[in-house]
Amino acid sequence: MKRNILSVLIALASIGTACAQETQFLSSNHCLYRIQQKDKCLLLPVQESAEMSNIKVIAGNKQMKSLNVRLAMNKVDYYVPLYLDEFNEEKTLALDIHVNGNYRNDGGISTFTCWKNIKNAESFDTKNREQYRPLYHHTPAYGWMNDPNGMFFKDGVWHLYFQHNPYGSQWENMTWGHSTSTDLIHWTFQGDPVQPDAWGSIFSGSSVVDKNNTAGFGENAIVALYTSAGENQTQSMAYSTDNGKTFTKYDGNPIITSNVPDFRDPHMFWNEDIKKWNMILAAGQQMNIYSSDNLKDWKFESSFGAEYGSHGGVWECPDLMKMKVRGTDKEKWMLVCNINPGGPSGGSATQYFVGDFDGHKFTCESKPEVTKWMDYGKDHYATVTFDNAPNGRHVALAWMSNWQYANQVPTLQYRSANSIPRDLGLFEYKGNTYCSVTPSEEITAARSKKPSKSLSEACEMVVNLKGDATITLSNSKGEKVVMTYKAKDETFSMDRTLSGKTDFSSDFAAITTAPVYGKMNKLRIFIDKSSIEVFDNDGKMAMTNLVFPTKPYDKVTIKGKTKKYAVYKLK
Ligand code: FRU
Repeated sequence: MKRNILSVLIALASIGTACAQETQFLSSNHCLYRIQQKDKCLLLPVQESAEMSNIKVIAGNKQMKSLNVRLAMNKVDYYVPLYLDEFNEEKTLALDIHVNGNYRNDGGISTFTCWKNIKNAESFDTKNREQYRPLYHHTPAYGWMNDPNGMFFKDGVWHLYFQHNPYGSQWENMTWGHSTSTDLIHWTFQGDPVQPDAWGSIFSGSSVVDKNNTAGFGENAIVALYTSAGENQTQSMAYSTDNGKTFTKYDGNPIITSNVPDFRDPHMFWNEDIKKWNMILAAGQQMNIYSSDNLKDWKFESSFGAEYGSHGGVWECPDLMKMKVRGTDKEKWMLVCNINPGGPSGGSATQYFVGDFDGHKFTCESKPEVTKWMDYGKDHYATVTFDNAPNGRHVALAWMSNWQYANQVPTLQYRSANSIPRDLGLFEYKGNTYCSVTPSEEITAARSKKPSKSLSEACEMVVNLKGDATITLSNSKGEKVVMTYKAKDETFSMDRTLSGKTDFSSDFAAITTAPVYGKMNKLRIFIDKSSIEVFDNDGKMAMTNLVFPTKPYDKVTIKGKTKKYAVYKLK
């Protein structure tokens, strides 16, 4: 053994058998970790404040995978699983580990606590032990989540893919995680079917059910388009012939390139009006629209938005859909544009434009300076809809966080949840057309049969309104959320400045205010451990905010003419 190479044998107990791994330290930043006995997974200890380590998984002399993990330097916050069973065919397996930072004057990587704490295991326990993990919202089984991606409905199953970091609860290693549900409320994690490759990590995108085999991958194949985030952002394709469980990447990737730096998040849909596919993607401060017959060859049609709406941040995650205007026989198109920062209360938010689309060009019906927001809370972002939803529904999910503090919210084994599912529509008010947002019917079906007056940590509270009202949810620690409806002003606001833990970010404590476009008669308030989503019963107002009370809110106080409310337990 060379003098500057330290070698230690770490005996680790796996279930039933003890096994040996060999760690060779090659410099203060670099080490080689040879795996001599392959269990199903290696549990890697993570410390969120540690420097980033890059791990290359090398099997049979080939690099199989590269991932970034904050390996624990002096304390373990939580574990993440590195599954090894996929490399079982190879005779030798090793990790080549490099940590960022300069450790020449101290022991460096050899002194990290991770070596004592790495574990071998046959499975990874994802049981929910966290105070703030919601009960009826989708969360990743473990690790970080941001945007919902590639969502589709097929054969009674809702498929939700999401921006996942399987190796830590902060943004990194972008991969498409996959969860499924038959009721939009209870979700099962299905793994990470679209993993980073030589073109980059896997950013947001969409999937469609290719009913008529236009792409040639088979009738009813699932075709996904996503952004490959490498040195530049390009668009790549993958398809699935097993209902979205596994995906095969297309040989000709990437299929769309550009020299625009922020060029991402393609959203495809079948446009019956022109009998072609359309796709919309964010390209700098505008949205590019394309068309295609086969999902592979895309023709650029037009751009929208350079002069329209809010431009306080990057345009991301678009969607485009045709909807009926409530109470009329009109149909209009709505273009969804998520923007970060620049939201109405700071940071991330979803704006939309109403107008007409002929398959080639979107024309906005309002003046360029008009900005419309879909939800006026601080925690509603990256909203997109499911492809192929039943009965022509437009079912949307948002990522329930804000880039201002998403990486710092006080959870550990997982970070971030999705909003409850919402059905989108259009309504008119004083000559303008707005997006209506209503909790999807599936959430009403999940209510307990009998309502009560007691608040619980996972419930829906329905409040009948008769003019101005102030609704306060509080706990015995003096933590509270105050919601105010001002009928004359036609506004609704939520104050979370004293809601509980707020000091993890100076951007968190906030009062958010929404226009309500007329009168509100009934509010639906969804509480789930660390989130509050409020909807006008007619869908004219939506507000989504995170809260982190140190004890669940258990007291309701209502000031105003109304005292009538009912609480339904959910789940
Ligand atoms: C939006 C976003 C997308 C991108 C993804 C990366 O939150 O920035 O534009 O595809 O997150 O994770």
